Amino acid sequence: MLKPALQDALNEQVKNEFYSANVYLAMVAWFEDQGLPGFATWMRAQYHEELDHGMKIFDFILDRDGKVVIEAIDAPPLEYASPLEAFEAAYENEKKVSKMIDDLYDLANAEHDHATQVMLQWFITEQVEEEASTKLAVDKLKLAGSDSGALFVLDQQFGARQPGQEA
Ligand code: FEO
Repeated sequence: MLKPALQDALNEQVKNEFYSANVYLAMVAWFEDQGLPGFATWMRAQYHEELDHGMKIFDFILDRDGKVVIEAIDAPPLEYASPLEAFEAAYENEKKVSKMIDDLYDLANAEHDHATQVMLQWFITEQVEEEASTKLAVDKLKLAGSDSGALFVLDQQFGARQPGQEA
């Protein structure tokens, strides 16, 4: 049985993961609008990953005989000045999520809830990947600079990401 403070925090993280999903979904639309379908494909895969993250915690709460609370989700940003700015925002968001997961882990530790700690270990590993992949994109876009040919090549590379494939 989940303790109330931990149950509340896990429900909050379900909301946070769905917010991240919507951030990426808005980026899908933005990149499509910019004529960069490859980056949009990458963002679409990321959107589905975030939904999976939210559902993992959702199912965990249910498995622990907890109560799921679906909370209101803020609207995501819709506009970016450049592909670089979009990926910088994604990278910043992933760093925030990593901190949220770390805080959740600390709470589970304080509550002596071993099952929650084990479940969160998957997320801790996942966040290392999430930060690395968005940071790599930022670095590549910085290298491309204002070279539209380089941006075109990167768009093709990012478009090779398959649904369900890690970045
Ligand atoms: Fe679910 Fe990208 O953090």
